[in-house]
Amino acid sequence: MIRPILIHPDPRLKKLCDPVTQVTEDMAKLARDMLETMYDAPGIGLAAPQVAVTRRLIVMDCMKAPEAPRSLILFNPTVTWSSSELSTYEEGCLSIPEQYADVERPNAVTVTWMDETGAAREETFTGLWATCVQHEIDHLNGKLFIDYLGLMKRQMITRKMEKLKREMARGAR
Ligand code: NI
Repeated sequence: MIRPILIHPDPRLKKLCDPVTQVTEDMAKLARDMLETMYDAPGIGLAAPQVAVTRRLIVMDCMKAPEAPRSLILFNPTVTWSSSELSTYEEGCLSIPEQYADVERPNAVTVTWMDETGAAREETFTGLWATCVQHEIDHLNGKLFIDYLGLMKRQMITRKMEKLKREMARGAR
């Protein structure tokens, strides 16, 4: 089931999300719905608060290859190591459509999480995967990529999103 994605500004995108203690059927269904919603958008990552659920769950697939997908479901993802080397990617966000900006982050991160079977997992992500996982974990802490930008740029994007939401509300978009 494709779920509606919240558009910034929305107070539900600014919340600190709660850990998931157990992968219940509801949580497993949420994860499957989030993957479907992400692929449909299309996007490479999605965090639970973006579909209005304030729990620590993200999904990702940075392969950008429908013929060879790599769907990842991460409950309670935690960065346990960050490289000192940084890299810059032009980031976007499904909650901030059609807006992109350069963000500098560690080039590699080690992340631990609980997978959809409840098993503990650990992986070191690099490149786009590293950027994506850090961007999505930020969502669980109420942080958006535009929070890394200067005030003027952030306000400009927020005003564009307010306009987009008004247009969507009256069915013009
Ligand atoms: Ni995002």
